[in-house]
Amino acid sequence: MAIHFIEAQSLFLLQAGASSYAIKLTEHGVPLHLYWGPAIATPGPGLELLRLGERAFSPTLAGAATGVSLDTLPQEFPSYGNSDFRQPALEVYQPQTGSRILALRYVSHRIDAGKPALAGLPATFAENPSDADTLTLVLEDKLLGLRVELLYTVFAHHPVITRSARIVNADAAPLELRRALSVSVDFNTSFSAYKFIQLSGAWARERDTHVSSLRPGIQSVDSHRGTSSHQQNPFFALAECGAHEEHGAVYGFNLVYSGNFLAQVELDQFAESRAQLGINPFDFSWQLGAGDTFQTPEAVLVFSPEGLGGMSRALHRFYRRHLLPVAWRDRPRPILVNNWEATYFNFTADKLEAIASAGAELGVELFVLDDGWFGKRDNDLSSLGDWVVDRKKLPNGLENLAQRIKACGVEFGLWFEPEMVSPDSDLYRAHPDWCIHVPSRPRTEGRNQLILDFSRTEVREEIYQRIARILRETPITYVKWDMNRHFTEVGSAALPAARQQETAHRFVLGLYEIMGRFTRDFPHILFEGCSGGGGRFDPGILAYMPQIWTSDDSDAIMRLRIQYGTSLAYPFSTIAAHVSAVPNHQVGRVTPFRTRGDVAFTGAFGYELDLGALSDAEKAEVKRQTAFYKQVRPLLLSGDLYRLKSPFDSQETAWMIVAADASEALVTHVTVLAEPNAPYRYLKLRGLDPKKTYRVRLDGNETVIAGDVLLHSGLHVPSAGADFISRQWHLSAV
Ligand code: DGJ
Repeated sequence: MAIHFIEAQSLFLLQAGASSYAIKLTEHGVPLHLYWGPAIATPGPGLELLRLGERAFSPTLAGAATGVSLDTLPQEFPSYGNSDFRQPALEVYQPQTGSRILALRYVSHRIDAGKPALAGLPATFAENPSDADTLTLVLEDKLLGLRVELLYTVFAHHPVITRSARIVNADAAPLELRRALSVSVDFNTSFSAYKFIQLSGAWARERDTHVSSLRPGIQSVDSHRGTSSHQQNPFFALAECGAHEEHGAVYGFNLVYSGNFLAQVELDQFAESRAQLGINPFDFSWQLGAGDTFQTPEAVLVFSPEGLGGMSRALHRFYRRHLLPVAWRDRPRPILVNNWEATYFNFTADKLEAIASAGAELGVELFVLDDGWFGKRDNDLSSLGDWVVDRKKLPNGLENLAQRIKACGVEFGLWFEPEMVSPDSDLYRAHPDWCIHVPSRPRTEGRNQLILDFSRTEVREEIYQRIARILRETPITYVKWDMNRHFTEVGSAALPAARQQETAHRFVLGLYEIMGRFTRDFPHILFEGCSGGGGRFDPGILAYMPQIWTSDDSDAIMRLRIQYGTSLAYPFSTIAAHVSAVPNHQVGRVTPFRTRGDVAFTGAFGYELDLGALSDAEKAEVKRQTAFYKQVRPLLLSGDLYRLKSPFDSQETAWMIVAADASEALVTHVTVLAEPNAPYRYLKLRGLDPKKTYRVRLDGNETVIAGDVLLHSGLHVPSAGADFISRQWHLSAV
């Protein structure tokens, strides 16, 4: 067991990989947060020191000795109204009395092998009970009859703890949840000794890395767009000052959730930081009738003493094993060509076949037909929801097209946007109240579309049947699941007035239900998540879909920043990246074909251009790329990522992927703007075995270099001589 209860001290010690987490119960039953950091073998003297003693304006907890104030004590699941003035994890309103006061006290606990599934929500999992242990800490507010079960799972081989809360109304009187976060951790951070790291951006500029010093008060990122969003990501890290890519203590937080979230840190008067993550309380409430249970999404907590790089590698390894769908997590992902940027809505079956056939000749394995194949969709003005092939464009139907594509020698994949409806569609005309809306208010459109109310079973059922029929009738091995607008006029025609603020969360629960159903019923299909590019790149989606279209911006230089930021939390194998045409459709930049390929070499590689229209030299390069990708694909799927140079620091970006046994590595370096008479450049590599010798291949040349030389002296980077030049070295141990 990796969880110990030391009764004499009322203390829980959780051992997660090489890290420890400690919880202490006060004599009044308040669970306090004692410690989280490098492993502590046994709770020795000192660990029990609590922040006690009288402080001005910190009231004493009712019934406790003077100086015991929740205003100063670090807590596990704080609430409002009895001496803690910081942000609570849980807020409850009792309509009968008007009370908002909540005092949760320990009742009991359980320690079990394994990890329970979370009702209705995706979560990380332990296939074998010996992989993980779970502590359930049961707290209660006796006056309200409210029970809270705090779930902590520790994984034996990962420095990871997952947390969530199950909230049960054990009383006959109804309650209203106004805030139900997944996790709250009180740190002793001392003023400005920690940095807050967030992934923020916009459409086509997702997940830039932003670092700021903590300052007294609340700093937060959130989404109330209905999805996790392009603008923010349900991830943040706290890094001790001076921590860098490869050293220093870093604490990472990530929410397994795809809807509205809140991530925040409150630095208080005594330099304690309260870090919290969960469903966004903004425009959220939940009616908890007698006997009802509310399960919060799961938060993943990771500790790394080895900087941001260590944190990322720990999260990547963990997600690859304990989050991604089991059937796909280790499976080679096909090299695909997607027709979107090659044709947009304007295609014929012959044109599609020509792209697929060119792809097959060049080593591509899958052709994906994107938007525009259904209804009468010649632009984005209509037809979402009408999942019936457009016979004007594809007169012989989808199945015939799929057979023609397969006859070229590649598999067939198809685009859907299941959550959406166009006002100009038969579906909408038949069911105008099936979308998210507020009666008698105008319905705001985004990309000329509305969002289907997936909180409703009958809506999900209809969409499931329409899409499942196509998946059954057509030989499809891949689906791109898109989602192209955010929520407005949030409300559901199926919910009573008091439950309207449940709409957004109920939508997400409905989404997970239908994603679970599709992925279970069609296990041979590889599902790729997408939301106008990377607008929903989060662990909730990854629990169903092992890869996500990272951004609609496929420019190799913009991708340096987008993929760097994304890699802070998410494994390389999940980052879908394509080579697209130049001038690039999003930024107009012209980059070498080679650079576009080198940057797109992640675990989910492909093309997004007309392969039939390439020059002979470009075709030869595609052949080289696909052959090489197939060779290094297992490494890209399973290797450890080391970020060597950040695109946010200079004109150079570099990263490497290293096999777990250090026998192979792929190193990539990109120069953005070249400079004349440039300094000599060396890349100090990471993750290699200093005792091994490596064969180093670059552009057909091979040298042999000792591992310790590569680690400590470095690998020479030839001068770029032009803008946007990449180099890619393939290393194998001799
Ligand atoms: C947004 C996606 O991110 C694109 O790749 C493409 O599929 C379009 N939608 C199609 O409408």
